[in-house]
Amino acid sequence: MKYKKILIAGGAGFIGTNIAEVALKRKHGVVVFDNFVRPGVEENVTHLEKFGARIIRGDIRFSDDLDRLPKVDAIINLAANPGIPWSMKWPVYDFSVNAYGALNLLELARKRKIPVLFASTNKVYSEEINEIPMVERKTRYVWKNRRFKGINEEFPLDSAGEYPHSPYGCSKAAADLYHQEYFHIYGVPTVVNRMSCIYGLYQKGVEDQGWLWWFVEAKKKNLPLNIYGNGKQVRDALFGTDLAELYLEQLENISKHQGQVYNVGGGPKNTVSLIEVIDYLNKKGGRKLKLKFFDWRPADHRIYISDITKVTSRSNWKPTTTVWQGIDKMWDSME
Ligand SMILES: NC(=O)c1ccc[n+]([C@@H]2O[C@H](COP(=O)([O-])OP(=O)(O)OC[C@H]3O[C@@H](n4cnc5c(N)ncnc54)[C@H](O)[C@@H]3O)[C@@H](O)[C@H]2O)c1
Repeated sequence: MKYKKILIAGGAGFIGTNIAEVALKRKHGVVVFDNFVRPGVEENVTHLEKFGARIIRGDIRFSDDLDRLPKVDAIINLAANPGIPWSMKWPVYDFSVNAYGALNLLELARKRKIPVLFASTNKVYSEEINEIPMVERKTRYVWKNRRFKGINEEFPLDSAGEYPHSPYGCSKAAADLYHQEYFHIYGVPTVVNRMSCIYGLYQKGVEDQGWLWWFVEAKKKNLPLNIYGNGKQVRDALFGTDLAELYLEQLENISKHQGQVYNVGGGPKNTVSLIEVIDYLNKKGGRKLKLKFFDWRPADHRIYISDITKVTSRSNWKPTTTVWQGIDKMWDSME
């Protein structure tokens, strides 16, 4: 199925630029809608224009901005306050974008009878994840049960008050549920992707969000690196282009994916710890990264690995870029 105009909200950001590039290559039309609040994303405009995207400046919190949009036939919602530390500093702002703004886009989809893909997060799962028995090894934590494939969609969103989520996790969980609800109640074709660590080209990673990019940049520019915890925390990482292919596969086959919730990441084959990435970067030569260790941050998962069985078995998709290949691509893209 071809789309004349896919509205990518938050489309000037890292994931948006990757999705716009792949969508336009696959001959869909793209309208990027962004308020450019994220520092650095204006640099992506040159790429977006080169790919052939139309760019409209606006804010998903304001229905006036959405009302004046041209006719679009699908929405991908990536617009967000995407960082946990920022959500802790500004919880009301975080809610207004991540939950209320998302609801505004759902209303637009309801009025125009069009599908919405939503960028949810693994942070909808609370710190209860840290209760899964694990052991500490030299460079990383590992789960005691070596056959455990990772966190699937059945993991509870609500831990009955026992464990924190972070305000970011809460605002995203609200929007995540609203997308499910708009499918059940109003028949809006929605898909929820609960994504773990996504990294890649066009990212503007900083200490508080986009850690893999930030580590590579710190090594390139000889900047000090702050580590919260012991650095043995583990993530499954997915390269931006791989993620973009998935979003397009879902939109092109929306009748198969509508109403679904997926855990999305690099999966068990693409996991790294912070220390392992630091070791890898140090092997690139030059001065070693200067590390400073601090206490654990609240709501930080010790191990988060997505079980991607559901998303891979229901689609013609799987991750293709290994973490080391992806890091090398970021390295090569930086001056
Ligand atoms: N990068 C990851 O590892 C990751 C993991 C899980 C979920 N996500 C989610 O994926 C989405 C995209 O993340 P990203 O890494 O590309 O972040 P990003 O910050 O690069 O992109 C988000 C974009 O949204 C824009 N934006 C913010 N508020 C807006 C508003 N009110 N109206 C319009 N535009 C607005 C920003 O200017 C930015 O360009 C976010 O929803 C994020 O929560 C990202």
